[in-house]
Order: sequence, then structure tokens, then C-alpha cells
Amino acid sequence: MRLKTVQHTFHEKLDAIYPYEEVDSFFYLLIDHYYNVSRLDLVMKPSYRVDDAKSLLEALWLLKQQQPIQYILGETEFYGLPFKVNSHTLIPRPETEELVQWILDELKINNGTLKILDIGTGSGCIAVSLAKHLPKAKVCALDVSKEALRMAQTNAELNDVDITFFNEDILSPKTWSVAFKSLKFDVIVSNPPYVREQEKQLMKPNVLDNEPHLALFVKDDNPLLFYEAISQFAVNNLSRNGLLFFEINEYLGHPMKALLSKHQFSNIELKQDVFKKDRMVKGGL
Ligand SMILES: C[S@@+](CC[C@H](N)C(=O)[O-])C[C@H]1O[C@@H](n2cnc3c(N)ncnc32)[C@H](O)[C@@H]1O
Repeated sequence: MRLKTVQHTFHEKLDAIYPYEEVDSFFYLLIDHYYNVSRLDLVMKPSYRVDDAKSLLEALWLLKQQQPIQYILGETEFYGLPFKVNSHTLIPRPETEELVQWILDELKINNGTLKILDIGTGSGCIAVSLAKHLPKAKVCALDVSKEALRMAQTNAELNDVDITFFNEDILSPKTWSVAFKSLKFDVIVSNPPYVREQEKQLMKPNVLDNEPHLALFVKDDNPLLFYEAISQFAVNNLSRNGLLFFEINEYLGHPMKALLSKHQFSNIELKQDVFKKDRMVKGGL
């Protein structure tokens, strides 16, 4: 079958759902993934044929159901590194890359053996990227989801970094206070669930119907539940001069600052992302 013919079918079936350029970009990602054929290869040889277009047509069907391309491919890129993803892991977001960048900028003068913990690691994108860029650091990561941790372990291996994983519920101090009793960290980072139920209506169906709700949502009446628990954890488990970094809900920047003050953090800083939305906060002990 000619790839150009399949590309035509992609547009026929998908242009009503996605912008034209996005359909092209899906198509090129898929032919690269399944046939190792690049956009340029197809420009140079428009008559390119494949014997079996089954995978491509299956992907087309999944795209029509609004499955995210990253889940269809089973992989994505974060902070320039490859990551495997599945329906148990949130698809890493560009704003989280900004959080990683902020942490690396803050730590660049520190050459020591830092101990870092990522809470709610999901695909492991934050922990793996930090481990890759801070080769002397000892990086740990925690998640309540065993399936997510399996994927994070795969991603640590894929990127050739060593991470210690913990299967813990951060909302259950009884269990984490035992598991982390004598462990102190120089940096604790988290991108916990922070989307309020009331914000569901603002979300695209491909996120709502496919990404794990465990990773996304909190109740309207207690949207800072995870931040409260993690701040308490950080008070117990950060070393002197330790730093706590959070990705946050863009609408909750000021309540987040108040929460960190309440827990006696100092040098609290709220930071905006490239779209000028309050997106990250840090505090020191
Ligand atoms: C917003 S996702 C972040 C995933 C990843 N760190 C990232 O930035 O893409 C939140 C993560 O927190 C985990 N999580 C949810 N509830 C948790 C809990 N009670 N204890 C620990 N982790 C939890 C979810 O499984 C999910 O992986």
C-alpha cells in the first residue's frame, strides 16, 4: 500500500477532529515509529509502499477515538530523553520540563552528592531527568501506583540511571513515617494530583477519557490535600537547608504560598511558566 494513500485516509477520517497540521504530525510520527520512514524520506520518494499497513490503520482508529498519540506509540520525549508511557502513567507535560529546569538551575552550584526524592513519580520523568543531569545525586522516587512504578523502573533502565523506588501512599503518614523514618533528603519535588473536579469541564476529552484519574484529580473542597501531606512529609524528611519544589494548579499560587508559610518554609518563591501562569513554587527549610 502506498504511504501517501494512507496519509490521505488519515486526513479524510481525522481532519474533522484535529487540525490538519496535527494529523500530518501524527502520521509522520507513526510512519517513523512503525517503518523507520521520515517525513523527508516520503518527500523524496512519494511512491513509498509498505506491505502491511495494519498498525497504521489501527493507530488511525485509536486516534479517531481520541486516544493520545503518546499512548498509541507507547512512548514520548521529556527533557530531551525517551520515556515509555501507558494508561497508568500521566503523559509528561512541557510545564513539568520547566520545573526540572528550575531545579537544575537552583542546584547547578552544588557539586555534592545530593539526595533527591520525587513524590508521585508516574512515568518517572522528573526523577529520571534529574538523575541523568545530576550523575552524583542519589535519587529516590515514590508512587502509590505499582503499575506506574513498573513503568518508571523501565524508564530508569532505558535512560541508564539508578533510582530507588518506593511504593507508598503519601496520604498515609502512618506507613511513610516508618518507611522513611531515618531518611533525609536535600531536595523533595512533587507534581501531585491538582486538578479540581470543577475544572474537568475545561479539559479535553482525550485527557479526561484516557489519562489516569488517580494522577489528575482532587476534590473541590480540599484541592491542596497532597500539598499539605507532602509539606508535612518535607518538614520531617528534608535535611537542613533542604529545598521543596512543587508543580501547582495555576489558580492556586497564593494559597500554595500561604501553605508553605504555615509549615515554616522560608524563601518561598512562586514561578510562572512560559505562558505566564503560576505553575511552580519552592520553599526552603
Ligand atoms: C500529576 S501525576 C505526576 C506524574 C509525574 N511525576 C509527572 O510529572 O508527569 C501524579 C502522580 O501521583 C501519584 N499519586 C496519586 N495519589 C498518590 C498517593 N496517595 N501517594 C503517592 N502517589 C500518588 C499518581 O499515581 C501519579 O503518578
